[in-house]
Amino acid sequence: MSDTALSLGLPAPHAGAGMPARVTVYEVGVRDGLQAEKQVVPTRAKIDLALALRAAGLPVVEATSFVSPRWVPQLADAADVLAGLGADLAPHPVLVPNLRGLERAIEAGATSIAVFVSATESFARTNLNSSRAEALAAAVDVTVQARERGMNVRGYVSMCFGDPWEGVVALQAVVEVSRELIDAGCHEVSLGDTIGVGTAGHVQHLVEAHRAVGLRASDLALHFHDTYGQALANVHSGLQAGVTTFDASAGGIGGCPFAGSATGNLATEDLLWLLAGLGIQTGVDLDAVVRAGVAMTDLLGRPRSRVAAALLG
Ligand code: HMG
Ligand code: MG
Repeated sequence: MSDTALSLGLPAPHAGAGMPARVTVYEVGVRDGLQAEKQVVPTRAKIDLALALRAAGLPVVEATSFVSPRWVPQLADAADVLAGLGADLAPHPVLVPNLRGLERAIEAGATSIAVFVSATESFARTNLNSSRAEALAAAVDVTVQARERGMNVRGYVSMCFGDPWEGVVALQAVVEVSRELIDAGCHEVSLGDTIGVGTAGHVQHLVEAHRAVGLRASDLALHFHDTYGQALANVHSGLQAGVTTFDASAGGIGGCPFAGSATGNLATEDLLWLLAGLGIQTGVDLDAVVRAGVAMTDLLGRPRSRVAAALLG
């Protein structure tokens, strides 16, 4: 099928037993997708991607990070990206690593932020140049201060399933970080399989371990990387466990600059295909996401997502 002949179609819906009627797709392509790219993407292309994804119906399109530009040069244009996204920045959360980042985000007009902490010691040091406990304390501090200003705060926990330096990660190591982030005022915690080693049973156990400390499935989002081809199986397992928010990246772009094995976020198009096939509503136009994702993967010279490749040939 050529790009100009698009009406791409959807799978026939076959409702799955015990599945939710509706799911929130949390788009991370503009931030997580681009943060590890060495070739600096023009600010205009980032803004166009974010606007196209919002226009496609995605309710949240994370925009950028107010991290150190020395650490992540690709996102040094964070304030300029926000300036291009219009007056209502609530649907465009930004990552904030510390109080300096919070100040910069507020100055740029952000009203929604995300803090991020590692479940493991090694990744806290590599990603945030601090111990796990210091990073958690900093995230709690940022969350409390942002909440006092009426901002929305999401928490991320990374390396929830495995860590390239430490191996398998204990369920409790994740749960204690999630609990602190929710107690500090995060409205949800996204559990990241940063290096894509999670499997379906592990997902169930992790959600159950959260339940055991009083955190509901509605407090959680799941963030999968498709490194080992397990991302959609893990989403299905998360749906069965009651989770209704899933992170994904248009075109499947991205990873983490501080964990070499963190390749391939779950592609938004692939996630939408699964959800449509299960008869689950998302409010998102798959064709429009395919077009936006392909514009970016082509610009980066990266392969297209599986669904984009299947639909566009
Ligand atoms: P540091 O070098 O230890 O910082 O970095 P510092 O506190 O020692 O300060 C050094 C200099 O940086 C100072 O400037 C600060 O002002 C400046 P100087 O006085 O030398 O001129 N600085 C800043 N400048 C701008 N914005 C800031 C900021 N903070 C300090 N926010 C730091 C510590 C936390 C800043 C650094 O390690 C950092 O930015 N890390 C972020 C790395 C990153 O973005 N990683 C990817 C995040 S995604 C992820 O973790 C996983 C996720 O996607 C989910 C998943 O896939 O699993 C969420
Ligand atoms: Mg990611």
